[in-house]
Amino acid sequence: MAENLLSTVDIDQQLSTQTPQEILAYALKTFDNIVISFSGAEDVVLVDMAYKIAPEKVQVFSLDTGRLHAETYRFIEKVRKHYNIKIDVVFPDTAAVNKLVREKGLFSFYEDDHKECCSIRKIGPLRRKLLTVDAWITGQRRDQSPGTRAAIPVIQDDKAFARPGESLTKFNPLANWSSQQVWDYIRANDVPYNELHDSGFISIGCEPCTRPTSPGQHEREGRWWWEEATLKECGLHDVNIKT
Ligand code: ADX
Ligand code: SF4
Repeated sequence: MAENLLSTVDIDQQLSTQTPQEILAYALKTFDNIVISFSGAEDVVLVDMAYKIAPEKVQVFSLDTGRLHAETYRFIEKVRKHYNIKIDVVFPDTAAVNKLVREKGLFSFYEDDHKECCSIRKIGPLRRKLLTVDAWITGQRRDQSPGTRAAIPVIQDDKAFARPGESLTKFNPLANWSSQQVWDYIRANDVPYNELHDSGFISIGCEPCTRPTSPGQHEREGRWWWEEATLKECGLHDVNIKT
């Protein structure tokens, strides 16, 4: 369990000047029941770093929305084999997906917005998963989304997904890293990566809601491109908006 002597804000102040590896080492040392939230994109660096710090403690999950690119499924499998780890692939509730698709079809997000589909395919399954852990680790970075992620701390209390009456700690070890630093790490350490990155994709989510970006475009412009920039969070990181 977490030390209770210092507040999360105090610990954040101490950790915020440390490297992602130091932050991960602290997270893995402090919590036993902690899991990496792996999207199948460049956040693979978290898996690589954690594996090098404490291979026996690496627990990973991916949310399979049912709408990921074929390349992403192949990549998740590649990572599983490369590190010889178990990846918990988490699926949405069948009845909820069935109801959405029967009533609104397979592409309702282009007509309404992405919230309803994301809520069923991502947030419900994430909530279910997070009920089983004390802490989680994400690949969020400040440079990913100036509108919603510019101030994310490296450690925070996740009030959005905590079990009632309990605390859930969220780590963002890459918060202060740039995209360039992530890619320098991937290349320097020969880390496997999603082949979509070789075709102009920077930020990768579900296939119908992700497209490659042109030089000069911000990576977030490739996600839910038909919507306002300010709405470009799907709810996985609600704590960014609600605290
Ligand atoms: S999203 O909220 O817009 O979809 P983004 O793609 O930027 O998130 O990824 C930020 C972090 O959220 C990832 O590094 C990962 O920790 C988590 N994440 C996003 N999508 C998934 C997924 N399908 N499964 C598990 N974790 C995910
Ligand atoms: Fe649905 Fe698109 Fe959200 Fe994926 S990103 S869950 S396809 S709305």
